[in-house]
Amino acid sequence: MKICVIGAGYVGLATGVMFGKLGHNVSVADIDQGRVKTVNSGRLPFYEPPLEKELSRLVKKGILKATMETVKAVSESKFVFICVQTPSLPSGRIDVRPVKAASRDIAKALKRSDEYKVVVMKSTVVPSTTDSIVRPILEKVSGKVVCKDFGLCVNPEFLQEGSALRDSMEPSRVVVGSEDKRAGDLLMALFAPIEAPKIRTDLRSAEMIKYASNVFLATKISYSNEIANMCVRFGIDSEGVLKAAGMDPRIGPLFLKPGLGYGGSCLPKDVRALKDKARAEGYSSKLLSTLLAINDLQPIEGVRMLEEEIGSLEAKRVAVLGLAFKGGVDDIRETRAVPLVTQLLAKSAHVVAFDPMAMGSFIRIMPTIEFAESAAECLKGADGCIVQADWPEFRKLGKKEFSRMKRAVVVDGRRCLDPERVERAGAKYLGIGYGKAGKG
Ligand code: NAD
Ligand code: UGA
Repeated sequence: MKICVIGAGYVGLATGVMFGKLGHNVSVADIDQGRVKTVNSGRLPFYEPPLEKELSRLVKKGILKATMETVKAVSESKFVFICVQTPSLPSGRIDVRPVKAASRDIAKALKRSDEYKVVVMKSTVVPSTTDSIVRPILEKVSGKVVCKDFGLCVNPEFLQEGSALRDSMEPSRVVVGSEDKRAGDLLMALFAPIEAPKIRTDLRSAEMIKYASNVFLATKISYSNEIANMCVRFGIDSEGVLKAAGMDPRIGPLFLKPGLGYGGSCLPKDVRALKDKARAEGYSSKLLSTLLAINDLQPIEGVRMLEEEIGSLEAKRVAVLGLAFKGGVDDIRETRAVPLVTQLLAKSAHVVAFDPMAMGSFIRIMPTIEFAESAAECLKGADGCIVQADWPEFRKLGKKEFSRMKRAVVVDGRRCLDPERVERAGAKYLGIGYGKAGKG
């Protein structure tokens, strides 16, 4: 089967590689020439090693190729997956311009071809987008009719960055929303080799399932942050509290880690987008507003903890470890490092930062701070440190590194370090939600 994926980003390339591994021929179309060249040389435009290894193999075998000729690639394919970005506009609404542009290209190809093709929306879009924005473009530009001449489906993506390939090959579920039975049946058949529960539904429900999922994840994280902020003031370590709470199967153990808030290209934008969509339909969501407010407070909480320990931050050298939105990735979209550094600079601190993979892109957005070449360099002479991303290598920091600090105080903004190890190394450990029993 020939498959076209539009958008050579995380989702497009993970989807393309998954279908390539399942034995299909894949064209990945993108408007970014640099990305097309990178993919055709067997490399990824981002850091995701297992996915890159498979991509490289598929490109070498001629199974997957990237192209800028979207219309041609769609014309030659049976299935077309829209995987372009849907970023936030200042209002919180999603920017659907990339989706519209991709839809126009698909429509041009539909016009040329008599074959029944299935168009699949994989980008995250608010309920009714596929029906009220994509469908009219496809029908108007192609002169063809959905359900009769071509199929239209929604198939939301649930992968996490850092485990994109595994999550694509072994998803927790596959959601197939369709307008007509024929298109839904064809997409179900395409996903047949993937072992996962499969949910068939309508277009809008499929769109909403994605938001319901991401909003719940943001809620769990925000709940953990609230519990942790209270625990630290009550002199209780939140880790044991959240672990015990998570043993209730109705709560569950995952995504209960307090920290500096949720970043990344999706959770913050999806909470904002759903809030905006609900407001547009006359519903003002208190939960979604609160989720955003709690998230905004977390970097301030991290800075407050450091300030409480070392006093005014004015002219103090503060080391920030981890600039990506989480450890293991080089993605800085909506990283909490930005509000964290901004807050430190507002307090007149001197910020020195390090990240194993994300420094190149962070320098472009915050060029005025100091950058170090390693975590050890970053800590040297610092009056305090805040860990912003949970890179595994930060867990290995010990006496050798902490002893180089002017004042060895560590705020673990991701609860990723071992408090005992840090304290054995002679540093003061202050984790988000880490209070020592007996304080109050
Ligand atoms: P991305 O920004 O990494 O990649 C999008 C790609 O689409 C870019 O390479 C861009 O050049 C290309 N593009 C834009 N307009 C185009 C057009 N008209 N024709 C061809 N190519 C075009 O985006 P992403 O992170 O892969 O996210 C894509 C969608 O999937 C978003 O809606 C996002 O919310 C959703 N999603 C992302 C993730 C994730 O982990 N990143 C997970 C689940 C869902
Ligand atoms: C998230 C979801 O987990 C995916 O299921 C979804 O497909 C994706 O968004 C998307 O729609 O794009 P991802 O953006 O890769 O995936 O990031 P997560 O691993 O969910 O982490 C998001 C943020 O939450 C990070 O800043 C992380 O540090 C933070 N987090 C995560 C916590 O603070 N606590 C936790 O317990 C878990």
